[in-house]
Amino acid sequence: MEKILKLIEKDLKKLEHAIDSLDSTDVKIIKKMVNHIIKSGGKRIRPILVILTSKLCGFKGQKHIKYAAVIEFIHTATLLHDDVVDNAEVRRGSSTVNSLWGNEASVLVGDFLYSKSFELMSKDGNSKIIEAVSRATTILSEGEILELLKTSDPHTTEDEYFEIINKKTAILFSVACEIGAILARTDSKRKQLLKEYGKNLGIAFQLVDDLLDYTSYDDKFGKQIGTDLREGKVTLPLIHTLKYADEKEKEFIKEKLKQRSASTADFEKIKGIIEKYKGFEYTYDTTKRYIDKARGCLKGFGVSRYRDALLYLTDMMLTRKV
Ligand code: FPP
Ligand code: MG
Repeated sequence: MEKILKLIEKDLKKLEHAIDSLDSTDVKIIKKMVNHIIKSGGKRIRPILVILTSKLCGFKGQKHIKYAAVIEFIHTATLLHDDVVDNAEVRRGSSTVNSLWGNEASVLVGDFLYSKSFELMSKDGNSKIIEAVSRATTILSEGEILELLKTSDPHTTEDEYFEIINKKTAILFSVACEIGAILARTDSKRKQLLKEYGKNLGIAFQLVDDLLDYTSYDDKFGKQIGTDLREGKVTLPLIHTLKYADEKEKEFIKEKLKQRSASTADFEKIKGIIEKYKGFEYTYDTTKRYIDKARGCLKGFGVSRYRDALLYLTDMMLTRKV
């Protein structure tokens, strides 16, 4: 990571400045709530993708910074909404906006950031980017709704799971890369490859997120582990396990998914069942496949420091703990 940060050091400084200045508002409390989440140590992966892909394609201007900030605003808006949907209390090691100021405030501040993003984009007037981002946010909302409909459903299939994570997570990674390609006016073949790279990286990111929800520790992860099970989210480690578990084990998992109140002991027991059927290994191996796909998309690009950085991001996905 250090290498990437060094490579785009100046742009990252400009990004932080843009994040500070572009979300201006006369309503002081909004800024306080926005800062609470946006300055809480996020990894800035999505804006980094805008910066790296635009540079990879030879973009020489400054607009990529503004769009990188916009992508981080949209991402933050989705988190503010998602934490309400998920009843989340902790994110990035701090109390969530909904737990400090209430659900209403969290939703409304999310709306503010979301609207601000489109205001910023419309001022710039790049209709291709506006079209791509609005399509992505529509898909993102569909993904979150699909996930909601599948809550506590032990029959959720792998295909359904992949549709959900593709829509709720991968699409924003993909459009971040698409923006880079559009800004640099690159050809459609390369644009498509970068979109695919982002999509596969995003899928890998969510797979690891779902793995860490079982295997990490609260202080490392920055959010409470076991939340997926408690919230009835049926993710890949569990989908795989439900295929092979015996009747008694299946019944236990189904009951806990339905109750949506698994205790620590229930969580540990289910974690043991997942281990028994190698649900974590399966998820990790699946992640590796998506990482390989993402890397493959970069083959068509010449050797450059920016391509190396994008390749490095794929390695980082596999080793990330937060
Ligand atoms: C995190 O998933 C949530 C998302 C990636 C998408 C959230 C999208 C919405 C709430 C709908 C659209 C909102 C707007 C503003 C267009 P997770 O709960 O698995 O991850 P987590 O563990 O980090 O919470
Ligand atoms: Mg969540």
